[in-house]
Amino acid sequence: MRRVLLTLAVLGGLGLAGAAAVVGFGLYNVSAQVGHLPGVSWVLHTTFRNSVSLRALAPEEVPPLDDPDLIALGAGHYATACAMCHGAPGETQSATVRAMVPAPPPINEAVAHWEANELHWIVENGAKMTGMPAWPVGARGDEVWAVIAFLESIKRDTAPRMPSPTLTGTAYCQSCHGDIGGPVPQLDIQSAEYLEAQLDAYLTGERPSGIMAQAATRVPKDSFAELAEAFSAKPANPDPVPGEGPGAALARQGTRDVPACLACHGGQDPSKGPRLFGQNEAYLVAQLKLWRDGTLDHDALMAAAARDLTTEDIKTLSRYFAGVGR
Ligand code: HEC
Ligand code: HEC
Ligand code: HEC
Repeated sequence: MRRVLLTLAVLGGLGLAGAAAVVGFGLYNVSAQVGHLPGVSWVLHTTFRNSVSLRALAPEEVPPLDDPDLIALGAGHYATACAMCHGAPGETQSATVRAMVPAPPPINEAVAHWEANELHWIVENGAKMTGMPAWPVGARGDEVWAVIAFLESIKRDTAPRMPSPTLTGTAYCQSCHGDIGGPVPQLDIQSAEYLEAQLDAYLTGERPSGIMAQAATRVPKDSFAELAEAFSAKPANPDPVPGEGPGAALARQGTRDVPACLACHGGQDPSKGPRLFGQNEAYLVAQLKLWRDGTLDHDALMAAAARDLTTEDIKTLSRYFAGVGR
């Protein structure tokens, strides 16, 4: 028994010394030209696959992914955030990217082996030591679905054309804000001050969005004021008539601690809150859930106003605001 223990201790010691030598003397060749030792790639890939399967959301939690606006939004993000490594669908990748170890698979191949829930985990989390980046902000798994909707359309061979990744300035912003509805907000109903403040908040991360953080870092910071001016409301929108019905009643209600939605969003004074009348319904639903769930908290009164809303309230209010003043 003692002899067995002694042998194990000696072997353990030799193993540690060997590992220390590999690390300390640089014996493992990290050159990407020679690739991994046999077996190492297999270990890494198997670990990756099992790690993703273990952690991905359940397949039942995948939302509907066939909305054309959602797919177009995903395509817009993919064009500047992913295509430089995985290429556009069916396009060749650059020689430099193909020399990465591991090399990013061409997108048609990358999507083939994974289900939507697994793709969502990969795109939100990235993969350490491979070059595959994580989503730029935390707690926004909701907006990652746009990219997954685009990836699923690649699987079905129905992917729309991506906007060109070389667009700059207003044409770049317009590729999402001009052409896509649903989850992409309309900007031309807001004041320039509000729009500029949002761009700053996306850049610092105070307002978390991986999609807009990417967009805000692709234009010079000192062009924010000019972009905000270009997209803002002109001439000033006429005051809409708030209307009647269950949505209007909720919007007028308020609580003991918080004023009614219409006190800040009624359009009287844009400095009290952004305009919601005529905004896209899907965008309003998504933002209200983020405020309700505490992901957005950069305005204390707005956060308090949303805290106790039920999902049904959120749908009723969003339908109401989207429908007024168009
Ligand atoms: C800097 C380069 C780079 C960028 C940018 C990048 N990826 Fe990757 N991606 C990789 C690498 C490298 C891998 C890992 C390949 C491996 O382990 O075999 C990977 C893996 C993946 C996989 C898993 C494929 C597989 O079977 O291994 C998917 C899906 C994927 N990326 C999608 C995306 C999407 C969507 C984006 C944009 C949001 C993106 N990637 C951005 C480099 C990149
Ligand atoms: C890939 C599509 C895409 C591009 C490109 C894009 N946006 Fe956005 N934008 C979005 C989405 C999606 C949101 C909502 C993000 C969120 O959840 O906060 C948004 C939100 C905004 C908001 C906040 C609006 C509000 O009502 O609070 C502003 C301001 C904005 N974008 C301006 C711009 C400007 C300026 C550019 C160009 C530099 C730009 N965007 C480029 C998709 C895009
Ligand atoms: C005390 C004023 C106040 C009240 C009350 C209030 N809000 Fe807000 N709300 C704001 C402000 C200010 C913002 C913008 C915060 C920021 O991002 O700078 C905002 C943002 C929003 C947004 C996001 C708009 C966009 O373009 O991104 C929605 C949606 C919204 N509020 C809906 C509501 C609803 C519905 C209610 C009632 C349940 C409500 N708000 C009550 C002040 C208020």
